[in-house]
Amino acid sequence: MNIAANPVIQADQTIYLKDYQQPAYAVDSVALDIQVFSDHTKVNSKLAMQRQAAGDLVLLGRDLELVALRVNGMTLTAADYQLDSEQLLILNAPAQAKLEIEVIIHPESNTMLEGLYQAGDLFVTQNEPEGFRKITFYPDRPDVLSVFTTRVEADKKYPVLLANGNLLEAGEVGEGRHYAIWEDPTKKPSYLFACVIGDLAVLRDHYVTSEGRDVALEIYAIEKDIPKCHIAMNALKHSMRWDEEHYGRPYDLDIYMIVAVSQFNMGAMENKGLNIFNTSCVLADEEYTTDAAIMRVQSVIAHEYFHNWTGNRITCRDWFQLCLKEGLTVFRDQSFSEDLQSAAVQRIDDVAVLKAHQFPEDSGPLSHPPRPDHFVEINNFYTATVYEKGAEINRMMATLLGKEKFRKGTDEYFRRYDGQAVTVEDWIDALTTGSGVDLSAFLKWYNQPGTPKLEVQGTYDAVTQSYRLDLKQSLKANAKYPNLQHLPIPVALALFNAETGEQYTLHCSALSENNVKDGVYLFDQEQAVIEFTGVTEKPVVSLLRSFSAPVNLKFNYSDDELAFLIQFENNGFNQWQATQTLIERILLEDQPAQSYIDAIKATLPAVMAKDPLLASRLFDVASEGYLASRIDQDYQPHLVNQKREALLNSLAHGLGDFCKQSYLSLDAALQNDFSQAMGVRALRNIMLSLMARQGDTQAFELADAQYHGSNNMSERLGALKVLVWNDAPQAKAALQDFYNRFKDEALALDQWFMVQAAHPKATAASIAYLTSHPDYDLGTPNRIRSVTGGVNANPVNAWSFGVQHFIELAKYLDEKNPIVGSRLLLLLTRWYTLAEPQRSEVKQALQGLQTEVKSKNVIETLNSMLEA
Ligand code: ARG
Ligand code: ZN
Repeated sequence: MNIAANPVIQADQTIYLKDYQQPAYAVDSVALDIQVFSDHTKVNSKLAMQRQAAGDLVLLGRDLELVALRVNGMTLTAADYQLDSEQLLILNAPAQAKLEIEVIIHPESNTMLEGLYQAGDLFVTQNEPEGFRKITFYPDRPDVLSVFTTRVEADKKYPVLLANGNLLEAGEVGEGRHYAIWEDPTKKPSYLFACVIGDLAVLRDHYVTSEGRDVALEIYAIEKDIPKCHIAMNALKHSMRWDEEHYGRPYDLDIYMIVAVSQFNMGAMENKGLNIFNTSCVLADEEYTTDAAIMRVQSVIAHEYFHNWTGNRITCRDWFQLCLKEGLTVFRDQSFSEDLQSAAVQRIDDVAVLKAHQFPEDSGPLSHPPRPDHFVEINNFYTATVYEKGAEINRMMATLLGKEKFRKGTDEYFRRYDGQAVTVEDWIDALTTGSGVDLSAFLKWYNQPGTPKLEVQGTYDAVTQSYRLDLKQSLKANAKYPNLQHLPIPVALALFNAETGEQYTLHCSALSENNVKDGVYLFDQEQAVIEFTGVTEKPVVSLLRSFSAPVNLKFNYSDDELAFLIQFENNGFNQWQATQTLIERILLEDQPAQSYIDAIKATLPAVMAKDPLLASRLFDVASEGYLASRIDQDYQPHLVNQKREALLNSLAHGLGDFCKQSYLSLDAALQNDFSQAMGVRALRNIMLSLMARQGDTQAFELADAQYHGSNNMSERLGALKVLVWNDAPQAKAALQDFYNRFKDEALALDQWFMVQAAHPKATAASIAYLTSHPDYDLGTPNRIRSVTGGVNANPVNAWSFGVQHFIELAKYLDEKNPIVGSRLLLLLTRWYTLAEPQRSEVKQALQGLQTEVKSKNVIETLNSMLEA
């Protein structure tokens, strides 16, 4: 069959970036009529199409029942088209074609949560990347932009009928049914189409843009959750202001709606004017959600809002360019969040995510460039590399340019490409022209995989009072990408006087002139030497400040130098990084723990007074999972566990009375700033768990009192973890109380599942208890993840009985929800690093699964995993 539609689908189903071709037909307008009934949904569409390039008229469609098809008023018969499971090809189509298509779909039995699906009493859509083709036949690719008019019709028991854009009219149609017609004036690709049909309450507000447009803001959720939508609403208004102030981007419609749904595969979706969110990314309230969840809600609200410009008004030419919108939007939401809490801590958290997920991904069999050049299933490429490394590339360019020039670059991007579907090259080109700085070398970051190693050596010459740095970069060879090139790496750095702790003013001609504020050296060769003059005493150098590039830094810091940086570095991120470097030495190189304990003891009081949240992060002892990601062979989970436990015990004993004293003297209620209060809560929870380690009998009493005495979820959950994970006598009653209190609060109940699944001594039986609990639900991804995430928190468990749990789930989800099934399997990606016999056992389990699965999603992931 002639598959002239592009990107070309090869026989082996792999799609290649190099095969991109312009779509043969443009769509001038779309009119949709969606009629929801209890056992089916009718979708009628009218497309005004026009030839614009060579090729056939091809519409993509999956799982659709075709009822009728007309072109320019003529009904087509089977001889006039070719239909297979993926597409509809219209033979001899005219250059101007008005298509009328009638199909029937089944949202009520759609378990994949892709396309239009029913979740409880709610019908919602998730169309990115390829869900729209499950609603109707359409050139479902991001470079086909059109204006959409949508009529939604349903039973009046669903009072809310929403779609993108502005409401044109609404009314009754008899038989207890009603309709609404929405018109979206902005051209958009089909992946941004959304509609919602259901019985929801709404929180309303409004916002006046810098251009004077009065925008109605609406957040839809079930009635009892409306009080939990205020933080999201404030974050939305804050995001709108922020994008005006930082990027000059006002909102463009008269209404902005957000809908919260409890069954959702991912975090949230930026559909034009009608975002659809996982409840976990909207609902925020101190009583029901933790501080971390509250921060996440604000950043996801901002993320989806920022997509309105970076993603929607300027979209991606094809799905290979996914990191164009995601990398830039993540960078923007990270910058936004730096204004909400301690900026250093925001950066610490973002880098921790990068190092815990993206670095391991990039060093194993699933490694791919931020812009991949081929894929089988695009859903498998919503990865840490596309999102997080994509964000880092933008951050590097922003760091190098400094605020003003970066803004000139983004202004040029919006000026040039508004209303278009573009590529990563277009982005770099606009940044280059706008800023006047050639950034073309950064394209290499998008096109090749792997985390570069950056090796640096420092030499001080007392005679010439100069300090010299020798830099070298390298990439691990990769058979699939033989032509790896060296990369432009912005190295932000500072020199400190080792005696006084003071920071030197840098004298070095090699530093970038663009970023005048910080000392940034653009290292863009394989090797380089730079020299600083006027360094009167042997300095301590602080490299890669704020993690100015996503690289593995090798610098031979002495323990004393690290201790110095923990105490004197004024860049909070690097202060934290120094603790992490020390901790890795202790845990992976068997160094004694004392240096770390002494260093934080000396530093804590000052940091606690200034930035309690940062102080709490200085206790970050790398998770066992993260440590495992640093071990490439013969990994033995129980050994890592033992070492880490030993360090935590030494820390607990080394800190002595400090723990209880701090616990008793810290009070979140005395903080008037949310970031500080968060920090105090985090510190108190840390102190409680250290006291439990000290064997302090009072620890459990204090935890129990904290559990029952607080209405704040971070405090309650922190105390519950101490009780449950230490098998305290009060644990059972507290768990029961938690269940009774929150049994109707799905997100809080997720935590109840998670705490138990994450018990260090969990067993196959205790997990079976959870998964056969009446509140466990395989149709709700959040609930599935609360248990898998809990199990995964203890690698000793994850790599024993966890393997079976993950594999059985993946097998089930392969059929019911392959997007979630495929992602779940990623928990086992590093099987090949295990010591024998575990390595072979897990490999066998994966190979067994391979013979049983059917979805492209799971097959592609398994195949890649087993290539290791
Ligand atoms: N664009 C969404 C976001 O990052 C993510 C949608 C991902 N959906 C998926 N099915 N992979 O904001
Ligand atoms: Zn996004």
